[in-house]
Amino acid sequence: MSKGVYISKALAVATVVLTVSAVGAIITMITIFQLQVNENPPSRPPTVPVTTEGPTGPPPNMRLPNNLVPEEYTVYLQPYLYPEVYNGTNQTFTFTGNSTVKFKCVKVTNRIYVHSKDLNVTSVWVTDESGMSLPIKAKSLQEDDSNFFEIKLQSRLKVQGTYHLFTAFEGEMFDDLTGIYVSQYTENGDEERFLVASQMQPTDARKVFPCFDEPAMKAVFRITMIHREKTRAHSNAKETGPPKTTEIDGEKWLITEFHPTNKMSTYLLAFIVSTFDVKETKYQRSTVRTWARPEAIKAGHADYAQKITGDILKFYEELYGISYPLNKLDQMALPDFGAGAMENWGLITYRETALLYEEGVSSTSNKEWVATVIAHELAHQWFGNLVTMKWWNDLWLNEGFATYISYLGVDRVEPSWNIKDLIVLNDIQAVFQVDALASSHPLSSNEMDVQTPAVISQLFDSITYSKGAAVLRMLSDYISDKVFQNGLQSYLKANQYGNADYKDLWSHLQEAVNANKDNYNVAEVMDAWTKQMGYPVVTINTMNGAVSQQHFLLNQTSPYNFLWHIPIRLMKSNKGLTQDFLNEKGPVTKEVYETTGKEWILANVNCTGYFRVNYNQENWERLLQQLIDDHHEIPVINRGQLIDDAFNLARAKYIDVTLALNTTKYLLNDTEFIPWESALKNLDYFILMFDRSEVYGPMKAYLRKQVEPLYRHFEDLTINSTVPEEHTAQYNQINAISVACSNDIRDCIDMAKAQFQRWMTDPSTNRIPPNLRSTIYCNAIAAGSEAEWEFAWEKYQNATIATEKDKLRYALSCTKDIWLLSRYLSYTLDPEKIRKMDAVSTINYIARNVAGQSLAWDFIQSQWTYISQEYGGGIMSLGSLIDGVTQRFSSEFELQKLKQFQAEHAEDTLSSGTRALQQAIERTQANIKWVKENKQTVLEWFRRESAAS
Ligand SMILES: *[C@@H]1O[C@H](CO)[C@@H](O)[C@H](O)[C@H]1NC(C)=O
Ligand SMILES: *[C@@H]1O[C@H](CO)[C@@H](O)[C@H](O)[C@H]1NC(C)=O
Ligand SMILES: *[C@@H]1O[C@H](CO)[C@@H](O)[C@H](O)[C@H]1NC(C)=O
Ligand SMILES: *[C@@H]1O[C@H](CO)[C@@H](O)[C@H](O)[C@H]1NC(C)=O
Ligand SMILES: *[C@@H]1O[C@H](CO)[C@@H](O)[C@H](O)[C@H]1NC(C)=O
Ligand SMILES: [Zn+2]
Repeated sequence: MSKGVYISKALAVATVVLTVSAVGAIITMITIFQLQVNENPPSRPPTVPVTTEGPTGPPPNMRLPNNLVPEEYTVYLQPYLYPEVYNGTNQTFTFTGNSTVKFKCVKVTNRIYVHSKDLNVTSVWVTDESGMSLPIKAKSLQEDDSNFFEIKLQSRLKVQGTYHLFTAFEGEMFDDLTGIYVSQYTENGDEERFLVASQMQPTDARKVFPCFDEPAMKAVFRITMIHREKTRAHSNAKETGPPKTTEIDGEKWLITEFHPTNKMSTYLLAFIVSTFDVKETKYQRSTVRTWARPEAIKAGHADYAQKITGDILKFYEELYGISYPLNKLDQMALPDFGAGAMENWGLITYRETALLYEEGVSSTSNKEWVATVIAHELAHQWFGNLVTMKWWNDLWLNEGFATYISYLGVDRVEPSWNIKDLIVLNDIQAVFQVDALASSHPLSSNEMDVQTPAVISQLFDSITYSKGAAVLRMLSDYISDKVFQNGLQSYLKANQYGNADYKDLWSHLQEAVNANKDNYNVAEVMDAWTKQMGYPVVTINTMNGAVSQQHFLLNQTSPYNFLWHIPIRLMKSNKGLTQDFLNEKGPVTKEVYETTGKEWILANVNCTGYFRVNYNQENWERLLQQLIDDHHEIPVINRGQLIDDAFNLARAKYIDVTLALNTTKYLLNDTEFIPWESALKNLDYFILMFDRSEVYGPMKAYLRKQVEPLYRHFEDLTINSTVPEEHTAQYNQINAISVACSNDIRDCIDMAKAQFQRWMTDPSTNRIPPNLRSTIYCNAIAAGSEAEWEFAWEKYQNATIATEKDKLRYALSCTKDIWLLSRYLSYTLDPEKIRKMDAVSTINYIARNVAGQSLAWDFIQSQWTYISQEYGGGIMSLGSLIDGVTQRFSSEFELQKLKQFQAEHAEDTLSSGTRALQQAIERTQANIKWVKENKQTVLEWFRRESAAS
């Protein structure tokens, strides 16, 4: 899935208000679960005593016993759902169906295990090759997390025998965003419309029909859907022809039959019934179609997706050396969707915000998001779908790869964006944070430790997506992109329509390395990066050339004796680029790290390596001096990385907090996005910790001083409601405005108010450029009162474009009026006002506002029962809610409250929030300590620097 994006799963929602990642791209990321698996190993089911009835007992764990192998399913599905509310008809929201799976017995057994969840299985029979029915002794659904449906036979199945298992079943469709579910929207203003949508990954195909629901249990699927008239059914393969009509119980129905799929995994199946419209183009042998609400298609919102999809496919065909494996590609924008998107083979599903784009209404970051998510999901059509991981413990390979490759895909269709640079901000710096905690976990998990659906779901985290992407990028840089591509191509060819694990990839990459006559050992280099949690900090002393590595943890020294093989790209002020490879702990002295005179050294050029760098004080000072004298001498990515490294090294007490703050001084002269964004993200922590204290005054004064030139740089454009040409400059214009306005630059606030006022006076024309809307709405509402809020709320309710709705939904959280915030919180309990999928992020936005912080915390405590029931399941994350609402916690009092909350709620009602709560407690403890140690120094630094001219 896309981080959210991808779901592939939606990316974790960045709700940082200050920066673009928050303001512009208000995105639910691919990863929903920021949880750490290794903290909570799955409990093994109690061992069931082996009975004497058969030669093989029940499976020893939650995995299928591997004695039966599915080959082909024939599935009929009939969802009872009217696309609109007709007079006299009732929606029942149920579905019925049947499935026949042909399977082979490879080990003798008298029991069949398939997965089934929340289904009423109404009939079951098993036949052998000749069609003879095999008597069934007993059948039962196991009452544990295995979701095993067990069928005991009177006699044994023979090895090499082929059998058929038939099941008929009934189920219900909810709005829970998992399995097959109901999504809802309005047309022509207020007419309700319904559709059937689906989301199987990771373990919900079993909620649609009983099946061997593991990724390695690939089979061919012959799907037939029976659906109401006036609707259209979609699945992974093409229809065999126009639907046939039939009459069932006096009502007309349509029967749509699909061609058999390729051999594929159950988690990639998709079933949709809708009255959507389509934009269609031809791409070589394939039909490429984008489906959405008729109004969205009519307004051209699918045009951008349609425009870039073919080009991205073409790029991947070259990259992978394999043609797109199917003859059609449908992409569908769903009004309700849990993750960001899901790569179902041939029928990719998206949140509307991840697929639809409207010129003039959507912002640049919306556009970037659409391109990124599409590129991510298309990357999976080969890597993930054609070749699939053997088991979920290798999810990182799937998601990390798609995340990395999506940057290359976007770069192909939007070369002017320099998108490849942004991986450093969006993924690497972001995951550096998580991976520096003692609670982090390695990329690779042990297969035995990943068993239950809950544990599998938790793997969809930023380690999997972003660290996965970072280490693959490092590897590709190390062995060269061309060699990486060669290895990738042979890996895909060798394993197509099958399953593989990371070792298979390493061995194909190794062959490519050898063929290129290089000396790298892929498995040896990658081992530490994938099997150890965390990452190193490389410490360089330029006085004597000493270099060493150490496991970087924010809070403590590492108890582990970790060692990494680190490729290091270096730059010296006068001598250009060199490289080194550090595969010992050190310190060792190497000449390349030594400098003379005023020369500086910069390591990890362009941040191609997944590590931080620390230097001796002299080198730090030379680098800072270089930034002040002429920052262009240092690559833009590294200007950002120096800031990010310094702040984090200070957090971990490698360097003084004042050195970190000093890295922001030169920004007075820099207008580039990456350094600014890096600084703002890090200063964001200072804002959270200090915006309720006396530090905030001087801090604001400093920020005002630093941002003033940047604000003036863009001011003419801003006042004229226009935006700069360049992609990242567009982002930095947003930063300029949000930092200037939130730090009380009067001209900025007046500008925001004036632009919003102009819209209120003439509500039919909104002249605020889409890019600037989030920040201008937010600042105008913050500076305004009830009238501005009500205006925005009305606009929110009437907005038909998801991205515009999201901007308004965020901006509504910016008011300083407590009663408005309080009422807005209560709206999150009413799905008519705030969709369920948006509730968590809305509460988090409110908590992010200093005026809403304690309101939001009180709110989730008092509404916990409801919230955990409604939002506890599926991929809505209680974890991200707890995480969001407790960001600012930094006092003993808040710590006590958290502990009390933990004590009051048994593990089960917290469900997916358990781990997040524990992390929140730890984070609060760390915050308390940090504030105590740094407050005075920081206060003095801001006082001094804001006064200095
Ligand atoms: C629906 O039924 C009601 C009463 O049965 C009738 O008054 C109304 O006109 C009907 N509406 C439509 C759209 O058929
Ligand atoms: C399976 O369902 C389809 C559609 O409802 C029906 O036509 C078919 O007879 C069913 N198969 C069996 C064996 O009942
Ligand atoms: C499944 O069975 C239960 C118990 O018999 C019943 O209450 C429920 O309505 C059934 N569900 C469907 C979708 O038929
Ligand atoms: C670093 O990245 C920039 C793009 O930001 C690129 O132009 C430059 O060539 C890269 N430098 C190296 C040494 O790869
Ligand atoms: C940080 O380390 C200290 C001492 O090792 C420990 O008491 C504290 O719980 C840790 N905090 C976090 C957030 O890990
Ligand atoms: Zn994905």
